[in-house]
Formats: sequence, C-alpha cells, structure tokens
Amino acid sequence: MEKRTELYRGKAKTVYTTDDPERLILHFRNDTSAFDGEKVEQLERKGMINNKFNNFIMAKLEAAGIATQTDKVLSETETLVKRLDMIPVECVVRNYAAGSLVRRLGVTEGQELTPATFELFLKDDALHDPMINESHAVVFGWATAEQLAQMKTLTGRVNEVLKQLFDDAGMLLVDFKLEFGVDANGTIVLGDEFSPDGCRLWDKETRKKLDKDRFRQGLGGVVEAYEEVAQRLGVSL
Ligand code: TMP
Ligand code: ASP
Repeated sequence: MEKRTELYRGKAKTVYTTDDPERLILHFRNDTSAFDGEKVEQLERKGMINNKFNNFIMAKLEAAGIATQTDKVLSETETLVKRLDMIPVECVVRNYAAGSLVRRLGVTEGQELTPATFELFLKDDALHDPMINESHAVVFGWATAEQLAQMKTLTGRVNEVLKQLFDDAGMLLVDFKLEFGVDANGTIVLGDEFSPDGCRLWDKETRKKLDKDRFRQGLGGVVEAYEEVAQRLGVSL
C-alpha cells in the first residue's frame, strides 16, 4: 500500500490517499486539541495509544456485527481504512450527565441517564459544532431521514457493546461521539475513531476521569490515563 497525498488534516489525525482509490490512511498524531482548537498540545505517545486503542474497539464492534471503516493497522500510528463519504453530523450518546449537557441544562454532573440520550451536532469548527435536530440535517442536506435513523440505531448498538466492555474493565462509559460515512455501496458505516479523545470514561468506584477531560480541565496525567484505560481493557501498546 503506497501513501500518496494529504487529503485532510484534522485536529488530531491526518488523512492520506493511497494508490487504491477505495482506501485511505489515517495517521493518529500526538496533537491534542480542546475548545475547537483553542488549546493544543503535543502529548508524547498519544497518537500511538489512540491508534491501537481505536483498532481494538473497532475490532470489538466488527465482532458484534457493526460495519466499521477500519481495515488494518499499518504502523504504530497509522491505519488503513475504507474510503467513506463522511456525513458531517456527530452522534453523541450520554449514559451519565457531563460536559455540554450539564452546562446547557444545568443538570447535575454524574446523574445517570436512563434511557441514554441521543444528540446530533453539526461538524463545523467555525460554528463551534452547534447542536442540531433531524429536521435541520434533512432540510440542509447533511443526511437523509433514513440515514439518520440508521445512525441512531447503530449508535445505540455501539453503546450496548461498549458500555458492557468498559463496565467489565471497571469503568463507566459516560458519553461518546461517533461519525458515520457512506461506502461505495451506499451503506452507512461507522467511520473516524473511538478513543479517549472522543468519549468520557470514569473509574466505576472513584469516578476518576480517564479521558480527554483531563486535558480540557488541566488535570494532568492525560497520557497516563489513556494508558490505564488501554491496560485495563487488555490493549497491547
Ligand atoms: P460534550 O459534552 O462537549 O457535548 O461532548 C460529548 C461527547 O462527545 C464527549 O465524550 C466528547 C465528545 N466530543 C467530541 O469527541 N468531539 C467534539 O467536537 C465534541 C463537541 C464532543
Ligand atoms: N475535539 C474538539 C477540539 O479540538 C472539541 C473537544 O474535544 O473539546 O477542539
């Protein structure tokens, strides 16, 4: 597989084209960003950890029958993925109240949410990823009603699989964000990544934060927390 040109540089990953038009390379960088790129730091080893972590999670989801973009690991920080036409809508599921939900609604952090909530955000840094609803997504052509229904169903299935996986390893899956794309056959496929950069994970007993909130809130020990999560799940780094 030959790496060609840079297609897109995100805040934490770079996407490259390859000699196969149906395959792209995701490069997980050490860059760690919060508040729409307002706070950015290089955290040693983070790219490698997230690459391996993401592959571990995507393999679990594939095993549960959920189609993902991931093809195979190429190196410590690079993964070959199927090319998707990405839908610019972020799907967020919450099992416990935290982050923007607490700020927006004034509810108590840590309150259990049953059933889990489901929210949509427009992927647009310049607008600070505003919350949207299904009618916005449909009327502005970001996704069809059918695609949204499938994304919601798939997100719920991902939540069931991962809640159990983290629970077995002594952690609460507080919330997470997923992105989907459409493959060459028109099928909705889980894309992007799943890592502690895009979810919240708390220790079940102490509720210690083990995710990117350590970076957002300046708590320190960011990479150490990511390593602890990986180690608890049995991801070999
Ligand atoms: P929020 O509480 O800031 O709305 O975030 C909810 C979850 O989604 C949290 O696990 C972090 C994740 N997320 C991202 O991964 N990228 C984003 O741009 C945003 C806004 C949230
Ligand atoms: N990933 C987004 C950023 O870099 C938002 C966040 O995670 O806080 O700014």
